[in-house]
Amino acid sequence: MGTPSPRAVLVLAVALLGFSAPWAAYGRPNFIVILADDVGWGDLGANWAETKETPHLDELAAEGMRFVDFHSAASTCSPSRASLLTGRLGARNGVTHNFAITSVGGLPLNETTLAEVLREAGYSTGAIGKWHLGHHGHHHPSFRGFNYFFGIPYSHDMGCTDTPGYNLPPCPPCPRLGAAARIGGKDCYTEVALPLFENVTIVQQPVNLSSLATRYAEEAARFIRGASDSGRPFFLYLALAHMHVPLGVPPPPPPASGRGIYGASLSEMDALVGRIKQVADSHGKGNTLLWFTGTAGNPTGCGGSTPGNGGSSAKRTTWEGGHRVPALAYWPGHIPARQTSHALLSP
Ligand SMILES: *[C@@H]1O[C@H](CO)[C@@H](O)[C@H](O)[C@H]1NC(C)=O
Ligand SMILES: *[C@@H]1O[C@H](CO)[C@@H](O)[C@H](O)[C@H]1NC(C)=O
Ligand SMILES: *[C@@H]1O[C@H](CO)[C@@H](O)[C@H](O)[C@H]1NC(C)=O
Repeated sequence: MGTPSPRAVLVLAVALLGFSAPWAAYGRPNFIVILADDVGWGDLGANWAETKETPHLDELAAEGMRFVDFHSAASTCSPSRASLLTGRLGARNGVTHNFAITSVGGLPLNETTLAEVLREAGYSTGAIGKWHLGHHGHHHPSFRGFNYFFGIPYSHDMGCTDTPGYNLPPCPPCPRLGAAARIGGKDCYTEVALPLFENVTIVQQPVNLSSLATRYAEEAARFIRGASDSGRPFFLYLALAHMHVPLGVPPPPPPASGRGIYGASLSEMDALVGRIKQVADSHGKGNTLLWFTGTAGNPTGCGGSTPGNGGSSAKRTTWEGGHRVPALAYWPGHIPARQTSHALLSP
């Protein structure tokens, strides 16, 4: 492996260990990184009291450390993910823009990912969720250090799905055989049905957005169980579809009042995080460092909460709302509970 090695999670872990005893005393901890997409800083009740949909995330904050001045490395998707996984900013790792469906490249193959480093150290490594760091050839996650991949190759607005209407903004469903394709809104692609992969195999196309959160939770639980049974430490990178638009949530429909679809989707994400924490705890509480953060702030006009940016556009900008994201670290017995850190941090 080349040097310097990726350091995002490791630096956080080592920094947090400063609160307790030396690393070596604990053997090798598991790492779970839950990366929410386009989640506003104020989308967590722990950060913003007006948000009521996140009891599990708020509990995570109460039982761990909350970082209030934490910034993603970029305010868009691919650059933010590339930096998280390599520990290098886009100016160095080469990923300064989002990859498109038609992109043939991806995160440059000479870059070292955190998964590669941990796999080399004996970890079982899994990526569940959205990749968006290249989907052709060896840019696929199965060739970037992950033993296991279950998820979508890029954003779920970069392909049509079967769940129209009940989303924000509404995009038409995939055209049926013989029916003419309807032209979607400016952010809807209708030509390629969004694929769901397990490793390098497409297991569903178009993906069913309504059941995606449940499937991610199941696969994550299975991965954690499998790694625990094998006795190997694990690294799970769980890159959620939430809160990226179009928002798809399972029936029943959310009440017309209140936060509507956005609130329902936020609740669904919160429940998913709660489930992962529960599974991680049940396989040895205290063995796993769980880190929750986001890729970038909310885009404007979709119902999220991004206080502090003066109402200016958020995602894709260098306004504070574009890159100041929620960040929580939970590791019972190692990270003290109910702590708030005001340190300026970025992956
Ligand atoms: C990968 O190659 C590019 C282009 O030569 C270079 O700019 C970059 O620094 C290289 N990355 C590493 C980790 O060596
Ligand atoms: C994906 O990889 C995992 C780990 O190697 C393996 O257990 C599983 O059977 C693979 N699934 C498919 C569909 O290839
Ligand atoms: C998608 O998933 C939902 C929720 O599990 C289910 O009710 C629906 O029938 C699925 N749609 C398709 C096309 O399979």
